[in-house]
Amino acid sequence: MNVLVIGNGGREHAVIQALKKSPKVTKLYAMKGNAGIAKDAELVNVDYCNVKAVGDWVDQKGDIDFTVVTPDDPLALGLVDELESRGHRAFGPKKNAAIIEASKAFSKELMKKYGIPTASYETFDDYALAVEYVKKCNIPVVLKADGLALGKGVLICKTREEALQGLAEMMLDQKFGSAGNKVVVEEFLEGPEVSCLAFTDGKTIKPMITSCDHKRALDNDEGLNTGGMGTFSPAPFFGEKSAKEVMEKIMQPTVSAMNAEGRPFKGVLYFGLMKTKDGYKVIEYNARFGDPETQVILPMLKTDLLEIFEAIVDERLNEVEIEWEKGACVCLVLASGGYPEKYEKGKEIVIGDLDKDVILCHAGTAEKDGRLVTSGGRVLGVCAKGEDVEAARNKVYANAEKICFDGMYYRKDIGIKYREIAKE
Ligand code: AMP
Ligand code: GLY
Repeated sequence: MNVLVIGNGGREHAVIQALKKSPKVTKLYAMKGNAGIAKDAELVNVDYCNVKAVGDWVDQKGDIDFTVVTPDDPLALGLVDELESRGHRAFGPKKNAAIIEASKAFSKELMKKYGIPTASYETFDDYALAVEYVKKCNIPVVLKADGLALGKGVLICKTREEALQGLAEMMLDQKFGSAGNKVVVEEFLEGPEVSCLAFTDGKTIKPMITSCDHKRALDNDEGLNTGGMGTFSPAPFFGEKSAKEVMEKIMQPTVSAMNAEGRPFKGVLYFGLMKTKDGYKVIEYNARFGDPETQVILPMLKTDLLEIFEAIVDERLNEVEIEWEKGACVCLVLASGGYPEKYEKGKEIVIGDLDKDVILCHAGTAEKDGRLVTSGGRVLGVCAKGEDVEAARNKVYANAEKICFDGMYYRKDIGIKYREIAKE
C-alpha cells in the first residue's frame, strides 16, 4: 500500500519509522516531513492545513491507498472528512470529533454532562465577568485559552495578581491569538501526571502503554510550558489498578459520551491525566498521538501499526491483538535556544557516531545546501529503549552528547521524576 502521513514533527517521524516496518507498506509519503523523514519517505510540499489542497493532491496522485492525519490542526479543520468525501481512506477523527481537543470549552462541558472526573471550572467570553470571578476564586488557579494553542495556551497562576494579568494577556492582548477569546478558568489540581493514549474505533478501546511528558522548558519543571521536552514510558505508578480505574471511569465513558453526542471518535484518543488524592482526573484530551509521547510508545509496539490503523477505519479493532515490548523507552528533546519563545533557525546540526540502537526522531530539521540545519524549536528527539527507565535514560544522555548545534539546549532530568512514587 502507498501511505501518506500528514505532519512534519518528531511524532510523525516516529509514526513513519513504525509504518516502515509494516510488510504491507509499499511506499511512504510525508506532507510536509523534514530532513530525517526524507530518508524514510518521499516529501510532499503541500500546506496540510489547506484541506482542499490536500484532497486535490491525493486525487491527482491517484495511487495513495491510505492517509494518516497526525497533527491537531488538519484534524480540527476536517481533513479526514475531506478525504473521505472524495472516496479515500484516512485515519483520524472527523472534524466533529476532533473538537474534543480543539475546544476546551466543549471538552469541559462533555465531562460535566457525563460525569467524567476533571477539575471544576467556569468558562468566560466576557472579560469583565472573568475578572470578577478571578477576584474571588481559590488560588492557585489555571487559565486555559479555548482554542488550539500548541500546548502553550495554559497559565498556572500562583497568585491573584498573576491570574488577573494572565486574563488580560489572553482576552485583551490576544497573546494566544483568537484562542483566547474564550477562557476556561479551572481549579488547580495536584498529583503526578500521565499520558494515557488509546486506539479506538468508537466501539472498542485499546490503551497503549503509558508515558510521562515533561512540558516545562527547564529542569525541575521550571520555565515556560512547551510542546514537550522529553518523555519516558511506562509511568511507574500506573499499574493494573490504575488501568482499571481509568478504563471504567474515564476512557469508556468518554468514548460512549462522544457516541451519545453523535460525534463518534475514531483514531487515537489521548487522555492527559492527573492522579489526585480523589482518583484520576482529566487534565486534557487530545484527538491524536502526543508529541513526544509517540516517540517512546511506538518503538515498543510489536504489532503492525498499519494493521491497527486499518482496523480502526474499518471499525474492527476488536479483531486486532495489540502487543507491546517489555522494558522502558526514553525520549530527550534537543531544542533551539530561546524555545518556546523566540529562537533562530538555520543552525548547522552535527551528529556524531550514535549507538546503533538509538532512535533519532527528527522534528525541526531541514536540509540546506547539503547540510542538516535547524528549522524549528524542537529539533531532534533522541530515543532509546532499555530494561528500565534508568538504563534507557543513560543511553539517551550518552548519545545526546554526540549531537550539537549552536544554541542547543535540553533538560538534564528526563526520566527522573516520579521515581519516589511507589510502583503499583
Ligand atoms: P494542558 O495543555 O491542558 O495539558 O495543560 C498543560 C499543563 O498544565 C498540564 O500538563 C499540567 O501540568 C498543567 N495543568 C493543566 N491544567 C491543570 C490543573 N487544572 N491543575 C494543575 N495543573 C494543570
Ligand atoms: N505532549 C503533549 C501533547 O502532545 O499534546
